[in-house]
Amino acid sequence: MKWDSSFAIGIETIDGQHKKIFEHLLAIENSVAKRDPWHILQFFLAQLKEYVKFHLAVEEALLEIVGYPDQADHVESHTMLIDQIAKLEQQLQKQTANEHLVGFFENWFIGHVLSRDREYAAYVKRKLPVLSGKMAA
Ligand SMILES: [Fe+2]
Ligand SMILES: [Fe+2]
Repeated sequence: MKWDSSFAIGIETIDGQHKKIFEHLLAIENSVAKRDPWHILQFFLAQLKEYVKFHLAVEEALLEIVGYPDQADHVESHTMLIDQIAKLEQQLQKQTANEHLVGFFENWFIGHVLSRDREYAAYVKRKLPVLSGKMAA
């Protein structure tokens, strides 16, 4: 999978963070492709997890600030993701999760970022026009 400008939701800070998540995903994808040992994969997964946590916290704060009506649902889907990552980490310790790892995050990225995050973008931009903006390149 490659980053595509059509992934952008038009809020520069968030798009920058989504792109960064994408870079972490690529690191995992490469690691799986190279058949790195599980502890190396776990290192990349740990970095992805930390960054995703940071991103979700920023996003949740933003939804809180603008009073997004669907906030509770959105936050719940974030919580589910963090749970899933924790499960994957456990599986990885048992060395069973490798093939599913990339597919899982790609599905999440497409399913969440490109639809759920896009849903709040219009609302946020209306409430906080200062955040509207396109990322350079
Ligand atoms: Fe997001
Ligand atoms: Fe989100």
